[in-house]
Amino acid sequence: MVKTISEQRRKDLDEAIELYLSAYQKKDFVNDDFVEYAGYYRITNEPFSKFLAKANFSDTTKTLSVLSSGDQVFEMVRKGIKKIDTFDINRMTEYFALGFKKRAIECLTYEQFLSLNKYDRIVTKHNNENLEIEKYVIENMEEEYKWFWQELIASLKGEGFNVSVFHFVIDYLYLTKFHYSRNPYMADKEKYKELQQKLLKAKITFQQADIKELPKKFQQYDLIYLSNILEYHEDIFEKSGFPPEEAIKLLKKIYNKMLNNYGEIILTDLMNWFYPEFCGEKLFKENHELIIDGSDRGYILKKKK
Ligand SMILES: C[S@@+](CC[C@H](N)C(=O)[O-])C[C@H]1O[C@@H](n2cnc3c(N)ncnc32)[C@H](O)[C@@H]1O
Repeated sequence: MVKTISEQRRKDLDEAIELYLSAYQKKDFVNDDFVEYAGYYRITNEPFSKFLAKANFSDTTKTLSVLSSGDQVFEMVRKGIKKIDTFDINRMTEYFALGFKKRAIECLTYEQFLSLNKYDRIVTKHNNENLEIEKYVIENMEEEYKWFWQELIASLKGEGFNVSVFHFVIDYLYLTKFHYSRNPYMADKEKYKELQQKLLKAKITFQQADIKELPKKFQQYDLIYLSNILEYHEDIFEKSGFPPEEAIKLLKKIYNKMLNNYGEIILTDLMNWFYPEFCGEKLFKENHELIIDGSDRGYILKKKK
């Protein structure tokens, strides 16, 4: 059944394209500003599967995760979680990860998917080897995402190069074996096939939100995955006049209000500045269990009643 796009959604997408193009024209996309319209990660840069392996969840676990490249969320689906709410400050993550990448995994073979990911901005400008595969994915997307990508790509066609969905990725993450090994579904064909089946049945929602808005915009969860957003405290908190103490307060609020009893919060890729202060708080000493400590830049805290 073809789902048509509502008038409101079409308006939102129109606006998104306009805003994105104006952001695109102003900068070079090698930088990674975390704003509403920006380049996006093509693949995770975190060893998240190691953390997920220690977390406790089942297929009914109510889960909230940052979206980013989508890889954390895809791994949660592969591990059996059926419904995941996601957020990101960058709206483009929805169009890329849930629009393009999810569909690509669903409808491409493992080899095609890996080949698609070999995109290189410079080479692809002169070579369209993968553009046919990409076009096939776009044509098979949900109507609204298809419309979005076709419009965005058409708007840039006159620029004199081959426009690809990957043209807008943050530059520095070129794919290496190292990145594959962190991403189970890319490292192993059987896991890719497992993910394909499970993605077709999964329900993943997206809401654009700054981490500061989470308690206002979302309800309670059993599992909250915050990736390494808080690591960017200087950008998120200090530059916007939101000092580290506010970051602690925010995390405390997320922990107290948004995490169900016995729920778990995963904080990864946090260097040392944050956790000692967070854990130093009496409240947390008393009511959490540390499932993973920070010795490898990540923490899992389980909330006790
Ligand atoms: C911090 S980045 C780093 C990449 C991440 N380690 C991964 O493997 O995907 C992850 C995502 O966090 C998002 N992000 C950054 N600051 C944010 C904020 N204040 N609120 C919500 N999302 C934010 C970015 O847009 C990006 O998609």
